[in-house]
Amino acid sequence: MSAVTTTPQAVGLPLPHESAALHVTGTALFTDDLVLRLPGVLHAHPVQSPHAHARVSRLDVAPAYDVPGVVRVLTADDVPGLNDAGTRHDEPLFPTEVMYHGHAVCWVLGDTLEAARLGSAAVVVDYEELPAIVGVRDAIAAASFQGAQPTVARGDVEAALVGAAHVFSGVTEMAGQEHFYLETHASVAVVDESGQVFVQSSTQHPTETQEVVAHVLGRASHEVTVQCLRMGGGFGGKEMQPHGYAAVAALGATLTGRPVRVRLTRQQDITMTGKRHGFHATWQVGFDDQGCLQALDVTLTADGGWSLDLSEPVLARALCHVDNAYFIPHFRAHGRIAQTHKTSSTAFRGFGGPQGMLVVEDVLGRCAPLLGVDATQLRRRNLYTPGQATPYGQEVRHAERAGLTWDQVVADGRVRERLAEIEAFNAAHPHTKRGLAVTPVKFGIAFNFTAFNQAGALVHVYKDGSVLINHGGTEMGQGLHTKMIQVAATALGVPLDRVRLAPTRTDKVPNTSATAASSGADLNGGAVKDACEQILARLDGIPGDTWEERVGAAYLQRVQLWAAGFYRTEGLHWDPATMTGHPFKYFAYGAAAAEVEVDGFTGSYTTRRVDIVHDVGDSLSPLVDLGQIEGGFVQGTGWLTLEDLRWDDADGRLLTHAASTYKLPSLSEMPPELHVALLPHAHEDGVVHGSKAVGEPPLMLAFSVREALRQAAAAFGPPGTSVELASPATPEAVYWALEKARTATQVVT
Ligand code: MTE
Ligand code: MOS
Repeated sequence: MSAVTTTPQAVGLPLPHESAALHVTGTALFTDDLVLRLPGVLHAHPVQSPHAHARVSRLDVAPAYDVPGVVRVLTADDVPGLNDAGTRHDEPLFPTEVMYHGHAVCWVLGDTLEAARLGSAAVVVDYEELPAIVGVRDAIAAASFQGAQPTVARGDVEAALVGAAHVFSGVTEMAGQEHFYLETHASVAVVDESGQVFVQSSTQHPTETQEVVAHVLGRASHEVTVQCLRMGGGFGGKEMQPHGYAAVAALGATLTGRPVRVRLTRQQDITMTGKRHGFHATWQVGFDDQGCLQALDVTLTADGGWSLDLSEPVLARALCHVDNAYFIPHFRAHGRIAQTHKTSSTAFRGFGGPQGMLVVEDVLGRCAPLLGVDATQLRRRNLYTPGQATPYGQEVRHAERAGLTWDQVVADGRVRERLAEIEAFNAAHPHTKRGLAVTPVKFGIAFNFTAFNQAGALVHVYKDGSVLINHGGTEMGQGLHTKMIQVAATALGVPLDRVRLAPTRTDKVPNTSATAASSGADLNGGAVKDACEQILARLDGIPGDTWEERVGAAYLQRVQLWAAGFYRTEGLHWDPATMTGHPFKYFAYGAAAAEVEVDGFTGSYTTRRVDIVHDVGDSLSPLVDLGQIEGGFVQGTGWLTLEDLRWDDADGRLLTHAASTYKLPSLSEMPPELHVALLPHAHEDGVVHGSKAVGEPPLMLAFSVREALRQAAAAFGPPGTSVELASPATPEAVYWALEKARTATQVVT
C-alpha cells in the first residue's frame, strides 16, 4: 500500500470550510436559489391568523381566485393523507383552531409572489375568539401543560436539605431565543412524469421531512425524495420545523403539476416558526459548611408554545444538564411543559441543556455571596471529579477534564491577578465596575433517544480513482461536510482533492437521523469510515504503485468499488420511565473566563476579554472547530445578554419581529480580546479519530459573561451582595440589578 502511506493524513489539518470560497463570493446555492432554474414555478403565501387563539368559523377562499395570477388555494380539503405537519400529530397543517398569532390557516399559490400575497389578503376568514394564555407564568397558574412530566432523581433530597448547613431557595426565569439563521425556511417541490415527488428543503432532518411529506400526501416514503443542498444556518430551528413547509410545497406541486416554492420572509419566519424554549424554574439548594453542594431540588417548566414538537426531548436534556459540571449528591429535577398560545418552541443549539445548566449557574452565582465564598472558588470546589456519576446514573467519563479546562483557563487568562486588578479598579471607580467570572461546561454527547444514534453513508470510488461520498448528515455551516471529506481521504489514504461530496438526499442514504445533538461528525464520520474500510478491504492484495492503478486493476478484476457504510453508537441505554441510564457516549468539557465593565448610570456594558479552553478531543478539523467555539460562544452571549423576545400579552403578537427590534450580537459586541485554546492531549476513545463533538457545547461558555455581569453589578453594593439578574441580562436588566445592589444593605449569612 505504498501510495496510501505517503499521503499526508487529512484528518486534523486546519482546512477552511469546504464551501468557504462559495460562501464569501456569493456563489453558494441555497434552496431558494434553485427556484431561478425552475420555469413555471408557483409561489406560496400563507393566510396568517390575527388572533392567538380562535376557532375558524368560516373560510371563504373564492375571493382569492378573483386576484389575477392566483392559481390555487390550498386548504384542509386538499389533503389526501394526514392533515398534520409534525410527528406527534398535534399540529394540523391546515388548522380549524388557530393556536398562535400568525398561525397559517391556508396557503395561496400564485404565478408571482405578489399575486399569492394579494390572494392571501383576499381570503375571508371568520374567527371565533377563544381565551389565550401567552406567558409561561399564566400557563403555570392555569395548569396548562402538555406531554410527559418526568423526574430525574438521586438520593434523599428532603433529608439532605434538612441536614444542610445552608439552605436557599429561589426562582430563575430565562427567555427563549430566535434562531435568526440567515436563510429563512425554504422548500421547493417538483413532481416528475411518474408522480415521484422531489422536495428540496432547508432541513436538518431530510428523512423526517420525507416522512411528513409522505403522510400529508398519503404516499409511501419511496415516492418522496428530499434533498438538502446546504442550509444558511439551522441551529436546531430546522430540525422539526421545515416539514410543514415542505408538505405545503409538495401538496401544491402534486395538485397543480407545477413546481411550488415556499420561502418565508423574515417576518413570516419569525412569527410562524418555533424558537428556543424559555424556562421557569423554582429551586431549593443545600450546601455544607465548606460550600459543597449537598442537595438540589428543582422544578423546571419549559414554555412549549402551542404544540409538543421537540419539547419532550428538549425537557429531558434540560433535566439531564441541571448538574452542569457539578457533583450534587442528592438531586431531584422535575420537569413539565407549559402549553401557551405562541409559536411551538423547538430545538435550539444545546437542546434544553443550556436552560438546565443556567439554573445551577444562577443558583451558584446568587448563593456564593450568601455563603461568603467567592463565586469562582465555589464553582471550582463543586466540579465533578473522576469516579462520580450524574444524577441519572451515568459515570462522568473524563471528569478530570472539568478541572483541567478550568485550571488552564484560570492560568492562561491570569484570572487571579486580574481579579486583584479588578478589585483595585472597582475601589477607585464609583460609577464604573468590572466583573470577572469563570464558568464550566459539561455537555453530554449522543441523542437521549437511543435509536437516533445511527448513521449511513454511501461511498463511490470511480474507475479513475476519484471518490464521491454521500452521507446522511446535513450541512448548515458547521463544517460537517469538510470533516467528512477529511475522514474519507484519511480512511482511503488519498489526497483531499480526490474526494468530492454530494448533497444529502434520502434516495442515497435512507432512514437518517437529524443532524443534531452535535453528533453529526461522530455518527456520519463512523459511517463514512466504515464504507471506506470495506472498499479498502476489497482492494487488499490488488497490485499497483498508486491508488489509481490499484483501483483500475480492481475494476478489471470485477471488485465492487463502492460501499454503503453504517455506524451505530455502542453502549447507550436510556429508560425514559425512570429517567436513568447511560444516554451519552461521552461528555464535552470547557471553561470560560469573561471580564465585563458596567456603567452605573445606564447599565450598559462591554465585554473586555474572554478566555476559553475547550475540549474537542483530537480535532478532526481545527479551524472548523475554532469557528464553532467562537460562533457558539457569541450565539450564547446573544441569548443571555441581548436577544429579548417580547410578546403582546393581550393578543399574543410577537412584538420583536424583525432585526430592528430584536437585537442580535454583532461585531460591535465582540470582546476585543477573545482567546480560544483547544484542550491538548484530549483523545476520546471510541469516537472517529479520537475526536469530539463541538457544535453545541461552546454556546454554554457564555454563562461566564452573564456571571461576570452579576459580579460587576454586585460591586455597586456592599460586600456580600447577592444579585438577581434577569435573563437576558440586557443593559436595562443590568441597570435594575445594580440599582438594587446599590441600595442593598450588608448581607449577613
Ligand atoms: N454552526 C453553524 N455555522 N450553523 C448552524 O446552524 N447548528 C448548531 C451547531 N453549529 C449550527 C452550527 C447545532 S444546533 C448543532 S446540533 C450542530 O451544529 C449540528 O451539527 P454537527 O452535529 O455536525 O455538529
Ligand atoms: Mo441542534 S439544537 O441539536 O440542531
